[in-house]
Amino acid sequence: MAQIFTIAHRKGGVGKTTLATNLAVALSNKGKTLLVDTDDQKSAYNWNEYRQEKLNSISVIENLGKTLQPLNDEYEFILIDIAGRDSEVFREALLISDKLIVPTQASILDLELLPYIADKVTKAHKLNPDLKAYIVINRANANPKNNEVAEAKKFIAKYPIFKLLNTVIHDRKQFRDAIIGGLSVSEMGSSKAHDELNKFLIEVL
Ligand SMILES: Nc1ncnc2c1ncn2[C@@H]1O[C@H](COP(=O)(O)OP(=O)(O)OP(=O)(O)O)[C@@H](O)[C@H]1O
Ligand SMILES: [Mg+2]
Repeated sequence: MAQIFTIAHRKGGVGKTTLATNLAVALSNKGKTLLVDTDDQKSAYNWNEYRQEKLNSISVIENLGKTLQPLNDEYEFILIDIAGRDSEVFREALLISDKLIVPTQASILDLELLPYIADKVTKAHKLNPDLKAYIVINRANANPKNNEVAEAKKFIAKYPIFKLLNTVIHDRKQFRDAIIGGLSVSEMGSSKAHDELNKFLIEVL
């Protein structure tokens, strides 16, 4: 049985696909991994098409559970990238996942949608009580004088249904460069982005 991860947020542009692509490479170094792109923009699927060393990836727009069921025994990890909007596929993903990862920027416009996701997780727990829900702060400002992350942590603490990861992923150009090259930051040599990705991986595994 595969361990199923879903990366989702109701908000667009928070870094779901960036973290999904980087995590997919990291997981595929640990075991057979399937990257599932459920967004009709197909950014994750297309990123894989640019890669020289292709991962296993499929694009699935509907009937997620039915599509993944026969693949469950074939893979050790299945990673699902969800579009930043309300969708049937998001609700379905919550019912079949072991772990939900919600990337958020430390901005009120992203954070104010957390109650919406908390509600979806509460509902999913009725049918999938073992679902774990993590939040990771992404695109954080590296300036030590910037207190947005501290403020965001206080906000997130109001929603105990989520476990906030200790790893904070900062806004680093390398994450953008990696996507363009069909790469993971781990394939671009050692860097702060690579270190953050490793810490993130350890926390969600
Ligand atoms: N840690 C980061 N450092 C720098 N840039 C980042 C980081 N995370 C994401 N980005 C950039 O932010 C933008 C949005 O990221 P991405 O497409 O991964 O978000 P998304 O949540 O998948 O968006 P959508 O809701 O449209 O699917 C992209 O330009 C991406 O390169
Ligand atoms: Mg995306």
